[in-house]
Amino acid sequence: MKVSIIVAKGENNAIGKANGLPWHLPSDLKHFKESTRGHHVVMGRKTFESLDKPLPGRTHYVVTRNPSYQVPEGHAVFSSLENALEAAKAKGLDRLFILGGAEIYRQAVPYTDELIVTEVHARPDADTFFPELNLDEWEETERVHVDHLNTKDEYSMDFVVLKRK
Ligand SMILES: NC(=O)c1ccc[n+]([C@@H]2O[C@H](COP(=O)([O-])OP(=O)(O)OC[C@H]3O[C@@H](n4cnc5c(N)ncnc54)[C@H](OP(=O)(O)O)[C@@H]3O)[C@@H](O)[C@H]2O)c1
Repeated sequence: MKVSIIVAKGENNAIGKANGLPWHLPSDLKHFKESTRGHHVVMGRKTFESLDKPLPGRTHYVVTRNPSYQVPEGHAVFSSLENALEAAKAKGLDRLFILGGAEIYRQAVPYTDELIVTEVHARPDADTFFPELNLDEWEETERVHVDHLNTKDEYSMDFVVLKRK
């Protein structure tokens, strides 16, 4: 099973503010939807609660220490990241996406084969940050620049893929 982290992060590693995103980037949301559609996605309870409702067309595995936490039918709750990864493997999935937030990313990096990173060209005020990566362990395999001029995006960005060496 290939495990991919997908994240949008600022130049200061910012990923979140007040349990939301610190920017308005429709092009990144489109990229995120296209990358994850039809797949199983793992997230922390706080990220799950930052969504209005589950993301259409994706099965959500929500990680929480609350044993009575409920999610809508068709989705599932796990008491640890490792339990979610085991369940995904046992189900025979060939692909799993880690959707964050910071707490889950930090724990997931050692299990991750690929990082799908939107490098946002900004340093926004934030309260949640992506962990520092050891870049010796990762090789950049793709980079596409997206300029925000004449778009509804607040900032320019690069869509980058890094594979574990
Ligand atoms: N820019 C991006 O790409 C991106 C992506 C995702 C999220 N975000 C942002 O990130 C922020 C949320 O991140 P966060 O770090 O605060 O929270 P989070 O990682 O989404 O969720 C944290 C929660 O997950 C549960 N959890 C974490 N580790 C666990 C473990 N080992 N076992 C069981 N449960 C565990 C706990 O839930 P309980 O408290 O219920 O026990 C914990 O409070 C938001 O601002 C969101 O918008 C940004």
